[in-house]
Formats: sequence, structure tokens, C-alpha cells
Amino acid sequence: MTARNTLIAPSILASDFSRLGDEVETVAKAGADWIHLDVMDGHFVPNITFGPPVIKSIRDRTDKVFDCHLMITPADPYLAAFADAGCDIITVHAEAGPHLHRSLQTIRNLGKKAGVSLNPSTPENVIEYVLDELDLVLLMTVNPGFGGQAFIPSVVEKVRRIKAMIGDRPIDIEIDGGVSPANAGELTAAGANVLVAGSAVFKGEGEEAYAKNIAAIRNSANG
Ligand code: DX5
Ligand code: ZN
Repeated sequence: MTARNTLIAPSILASDFSRLGDEVETVAKAGADWIHLDVMDGHFVPNITFGPPVIKSIRDRTDKVFDCHLMITPADPYLAAFADAGCDIITVHAEAGPHLHRSLQTIRNLGKKAGVSLNPSTPENVIEYVLDELDLVLLMTVNPGFGGQAFIPSVVEKVRRIKAMIGDRPIDIEIDGGVSPANAGELTAAGANVLVAGSAVFKGEGEEAYAKNIAAIRNSANG
């Protein structure tokens, strides 16, 4: 068993966008802990998804935590809009701007939890001097931009090093990309306590299928 209960955060990127509100409601009922929102700008990453108006439109479909992953640059001019749209956690990429400390302070000043995400190639020492401004570290286990990519196993070692770096600070370690029952166990053993999953959750259709998929990840994570 891991020390902290693992949270599962389905990424709606893998859901049916034509029924987005229903999908959010269904996956929440199926056992999701958080709803992971992948915001892409076609500039920081080679894909475009959705922004604050879409997030606002689904906010009343569940009271689960909205976990917003910003893959945009610059992020700072849009932080207030994502806070207003109903995001509870706002995560920026360390690679997306020169003033990470300022971005994190801005998010907390908006009354939201502040996260930083690291691409697979980004070393963990970029967070060394912002540990006191952080509520969450989101480690990418794929190159951001698309769902359904293959998990990059070398990041597991980085999870271990970050776990040691944060010590007993109340900072969540979240993993994003290619998460499945096949790797959930090694990720939580290394220190992760939140797992994002897109294609592994939105497989099949409807509450029963999603519940089965979430349970399979959770069992492997807590096993
Ligand atoms: C990738 C996104 C991920 C993605 C995960 O840029 O940040 O959240 O949707 O999808 P899977 O679980 O399919 O890799
Ligand atoms: Zn994500």
C-alpha cells in the first residue's frame, strides 16, 4: 500500500467532445476523483483543444476538482480567465515562460492551487526554488500534445527524485501520459499519488465501462 491514497484524474481529451457535458458527468459517477482538463494552444504544443468558455460550460456538471493542465505560452495573461471558469488547480509548464515563480504566485493569489508541469526532458531541479509556492508537480510521461501515446519509462526515476526533494511538504505528485494498469503500480511505488489517464479510462462507452477502467488503474496503483 502507498502512504497516500491514489487519486485518478481522467483526461477529457479522450472523451467524446460532441457530448462533453455528459461525458464529464458520467466519468465523475464512474469514480473519477478529479477531472483533468488539457488546454493546448497550437504553439507550446502542436495541437489545439479548448479554453475557458468550454470549461465554464461544463463546470456545473460535477462538483469534482477541475484539474487544469495549461500547455500554453504565455500562460500568465490567461490565468485569471481559467480561475473564473471554475478551475480548482491550475498547472503551468516550467518550459512555457521565464517567470515560473511569478506564475505560481499569481495562481495562488487567485485563490487556486498552483501546479508546475515538467516535460520528459526537463530536469527536476527547475522546481528547487519554488517548492514553497507549489501545491502539485505534474510529470509528463509522454511529450505533451496528444492522448494515446506510449509511456516513457525513464520518468519513473524522476518521480523518485522529486518525491525525495519534496520531503514531507504537502505537494501532490501527478503523472500524465500513457498511464494504464500496467504502469500504475510502479508509479505509485515511486511516489506518485495522482494519476491522469485519458485513453485508458475512456475505453468502451458509458458509466459501467469507465468504472471498470478506473477501478483497474486504482487496483494496480494501490496494489
Ligand atoms: C497530453 C495530455 C494528457 C493526455 C493523456 O498532452 O496532457 O493528459 O490526454 O492521455 P493518455 O492517457 O491517453 O496518454
Ligand atoms: Zn494533461
